[in-house]
Amino acid sequence: MSLPPTATGAQHTAILGLGVYRPSLVVPNSEIIEAIDSSDEWIQQRSGIKQRRFATPEETVQMMSVAAARTAVERAGLDMAQVDGVVVATVTHLMQTPAVATLIAHELGLDRPAAFDISAACAGFCHGVALASDMIRGGSAKYVLVIGVERLSDILDLTDRGTAFIFGDGAGAVVVGPSDEPGIGPVVWGSDGEQSDLIRQREDWRDVIASDNPRMPHLTMQGNAVFRWAAFEMAKVAHEALDRTGITVDDLDVFVPHQANMRIIDAMARSMKLPDHVAIARDIAEQGNTSAASIPLALDRLIEDGEAKSGDTALLIAFGAGLAYAAQVVTVP
Ligand code: UT7
Repeated sequence: MSLPPTATGAQHTAILGLGVYRPSLVVPNSEIIEAIDSSDEWIQQRSGIKQRRFATPEETVQMMSVAAARTAVERAGLDMAQVDGVVVATVTHLMQTPAVATLIAHELGLDRPAAFDISAACAGFCHGVALASDMIRGGSAKYVLVIGVERLSDILDLTDRGTAFIFGDGAGAVVVGPSDEPGIGPVVWGSDGEQSDLIRQREDWRDVIASDNPRMPHLTMQGNAVFRWAAFEMAKVAHEALDRTGITVDDLDVFVPHQANMRIIDAMARSMKLPDHVAIARDIAEQGNTSAASIPLALDRLIEDGEAKSGDTALLIAFGAGLAYAAQVVTVP
């Protein structure tokens, strides 16, 4: 027997509200350099980073997510009870199970929503937005919270020259919901597992337990190889996202790339030939690289600074461990 036809959802979707949480501990380069024999000048020149923020013990993944989510739902003009899906992108919820999305949903007081975590590292937020949009268009949910959150300070080796100065903590959340007009374009996403060694957790938990000197598994990165991949390959992905949406760089108001390195941001903007009127997110200077949280944090900063406004057309593109990437054009909420 064939099943009855499946109901479909909204024809179009959009980001309805955005909220962020920036942790309270501001950590300037001067506090990082001694342990890695570096300098403020080197870090700024090579990465554009002036400072990052680290979470305090109270600023947990759950706490930061709930704060960002509350703002996003309020700005979307919704009641919390209307949210029926929670997708959390993170690689730093250090409890393997249950998914932190279920704990966040419970603390928000949601009524049994679909709630699950996804692991796509720095590309996690854009994966989440694409998933949420497809859930709503497919009729599986109506209002989905997508949260990008990290406490990378928990898995950083502050004596590792290749990572200690780059990463930071934070959270960003959006509500994705139905819309009269298309507000989220087609996603262009993919992965290259052949390069999965370039950014990875150093040991798995079995290695840690077997070790004579057990310690937290840390993040390692072959920065230079990732840099070359990102700077050359990601501009093509960005163009593909524009093509699939049916627009060109001239139609863009805002460019929000993953905040990995200021030089990557500049290289992408140059190779995409972005016109001067396009506002470019450069939150990395103040926030460091916050992996899954970087795009919502960077978009929020542009809005705060008056460089982006509601209704603007923005290109989002994120990339990182996997190597995984995802890009889409969205309307700024
Ligand atoms: O979010 C996920 C995606 N991640 C990324 O996209 C990150 C991409 N990679 C990067 O952002 C850059 O590769 C880094 C900022 C991590 C490093 O910059 P780089 O220009 O690729 O540096 P490098 O590793 O090629 O090293 C250049 C030089 C070397 O010295 P020599 O051999 O030229 O004498 C290093 O020993 O800089 C030296 N160096 C440092 N010096 C001071 C490496 N790390 C440091 C340091 N402080 N922390």
